[in-house]
Amino acid sequence: KIDAEIRIEPKDQMPEAYRKTLVRQISQHAHSEVVGMLPEANWVTRAPSLKRKQILLAKIQDEAGHGLYLYSAAETLGVSRQQMIDDLHSGKAKYSSIFNYPTLSWADMGSIGWMVDGAAILNQIPLCRCSYGPYARAMVRICKEESFHQRQGFEILLVLSQGSPEQRAMAQESINRWYWPAMMMFGPSDTDSSNSEQSMKWRIKRFSNDELRQRFVDMIAEQIKVLGLQVPDPDQKWNEERGHYDSGPINWDEFWNVVNGNGPCNKDRLDTRRKAWEDGAWVREAAVAYADKKEKRQSEASRVEAA
Ligand code: 3HC
Repeated sequence: KIDAEIRIEPKDQMPEAYRKTLVRQISQHAHSEVVGMLPEANWVTRAPSLKRKQILLAKIQDEAGHGLYLYSAAETLGVSRQQMIDDLHSGKAKYSSIFNYPTLSWADMGSIGWMVDGAAILNQIPLCRCSYGPYARAMVRICKEESFHQRQGFEILLVLSQGSPEQRAMAQESINRWYWPAMMMFGPSDTDSSNSEQSMKWRIKRFSNDELRQRFVDMIAEQIKVLGLQVPDPDQKWNEERGHYDSGPINWDEFWNVVNGNGPCNKDRLDTRRKAWEDGAWVREAAVAYADKKEKRQSEASRVEAA
């Protein structure tokens, strides 16, 4: 079916390894969306205007929705929400390394929108053609919202780049901190990617990590010209022969260090998620109690009607 480009649906027969790798990727994608709300939340109360605050709140709210679509898509594969949340809180499950960096200035809201959501779009557009139906369909709506995220981020940096020398410097300093971690979002190099080969055979992954990373480099290299700022990569230069921009080396020690839980904010992010989960227990309990009561009332009403 996959070779014939026929979507796999929840009720279809599927190899256990196909199901498992989808649960792995979709749940970690969902975790990334939810943990990804935290760096930006840091600037909701510090936004420079009401309008910026509204836009940032709308974006963060979108990310929560993306997480819910993706948890729901993962649940169609038989994994429970509780199990996925437990795996995140225990540190067993991964989420995108990018969200383990601190947001130190308002310009970071621009860098995140422009580069992090920009990278996410490059990675998520091909996922709209993923072989697993629920994942592909969730991606269609998510990608539409991501383009707003990227635009609002670029606009923040554009305003800063046209502002005072201090604002230009703030934008450049932020880009310097976020560019390389954004490059790492695409995963290890193809030679070190343990899942790529199988994921590409199963048409979960349509392009390799390095292919999408190259697209990112080429996109940012052109767009940053509009800002009149620099990419923090002295080795970046146009390669006529390749028809792409060459890049300098990625610090893979940093990447694996962050992926393995030792990044600047890993502990803080998981502590915050665990606390939010505990603090929100009463809401979940109330919702379950309400649903039980409603069901009891409905079955009582249909019993009386039948009598
Ligand atoms: N951060 C953390 N872990 C990473 C990673 C990263 N940036 N890149 C790779 N890894 C992990 C993989 O999960 C895998 O570990 P696992 O087997 O325990 O899951 C290991 O490193 C080897 O990497 P592979 O290349 O073999 O793994 P994949 O084939 O799964 O490719 C991926 C990695 C490209 C991230 C792929 O999983 C993917 O496309 N996921 C869906 C998209 C996604 O999760 N994006 C994250 C950002 S979401 C986001 O940005 C939200 C936006 O709204 C801001």
